Amino acid sequence: MWSGADAEKCEDAGRGFLGKDPGSEAGRATTEGDIDMGKLEGKAAIITGGSSGIGEASVRLFVGEGCRVVIADRDAAAGERLAAELGSAVLFQRTDVTSEDDVKAAVERAVTAFGRLDCMFSNAGVSGDLRPIEEVTVEEYERLTSVNLKGAFLGMKHAAPVMKRQRSGSIITTSSIGSLMAENAPHLYCAVKAAVNHLTRCVANELGGSGVRVNSVCPGAILTPIFTRDQGLSEAEAIEALKRVEEGLSGYQPIPRAGLPDDIAKAALWLASDDSSFVTGANLVVDGGKTCGENWAMMLAQQEAM
Ligand SMILES: NC(=O)c1ccc[n+]([C@@H]2O[C@H](COP(=O)([O-])OP(=O)(O)OC[C@H]3O[C@@H](n4cnc5c(N)ncnc54)[C@H](O)[C@@H]3O)[C@@H](O)[C@H]2O)c1
Repeated sequence: MWSGADAEKCEDAGRGFLGKDPGSEAGRATTEGDIDMGKLEGKAAIITGGSSGIGEASVRLFVGEGCRVVIADRDAAAGERLAAELGSAVLFQRTDVTSEDDVKAAVERAVTAFGRLDCMFSNAGVSGDLRPIEEVTVEEYERLTSVNLKGAFLGMKHAAPVMKRQRSGSIITTSSIGSLMAENAPHLYCAVKAAVNHLTRCVANELGGSGVRVNSVCPGAILTPIFTRDQGLSEAEAIEALKRVEEGLSGYQPIPRAGLPDDIAKAALWLASDDSSFVTGANLVVDGGKTCGENWAMMLAQQEAM
């Protein structure tokens, strides 16, 4: 993942996305007779980090596909606003994913309200600044491990018993291409996301026989508030900073546009739906080709400059 400063280095301008995610316009995907059938019709999900970015896009898309959703996020103002906007299919549960009691309560809320839990999308996460290893603090280690890894672990731990009883379910973790490449993100962020991938595979192996699938989705750089969070920016400054990030991201990977939250939401939708019923232990990379290597046009420009 790039910081805003990195993004400024890139010259290629992106298209103007800063508004609502395309997921907000999601309709029911398939039609059976006269009845619209969504891909998640009758299902229930918990989406952690559902108040913003990739999580918010996923909430919108899942609901559009017939799913009932508990938004589990520590940001109550944004989560409650989204739940109120989307109506009775969506509940907000204030959740800090580093707290076992909170994650347990989110699972109980879904089961009590909806009678089941078909998808646990453990997506909440935090990033940080690029720093030399000697400057990385133990507090940063604990913050990244606690939110990004412990949060995923607790989601699995508390969703699995419910799903095993149902003999079905899909657990999804949000990883990052930082887990596959030693660049573009803080050391610990990359390492912790690699641990998320492997935890996902290990638990997928255990739960395969119980009808429960466990997969990760691995985003490339996606235009979300994660790039401007915790920097003390005003709303106007954050919007300006995100515009610069968007410009930078359009030249960041082979597909020449910024990755959008809905790109990841659609991957999560597939992993949550029965369309992926033979898929478990996978790490689904959605990165506009970034892990193929450096942007071809940039390489060519570099070669010509030499
Ligand atoms: N945006 C990217 O470029 C990118 C790339 C790779 C991976 N990811 C991953 O995608 C996931 C979502 O990130 P995003 O880009 O949508 O960021 P975002 O900042 O827009 O959203 C993150 C959400 O997680 C919530 N959250 C943070 N800590 C929490 C905690 N302890 N408990 C509960 N909720 C918490 C925040 O309140 C926020 O709503 C993260 O796991 C991130 O690491 C993002």
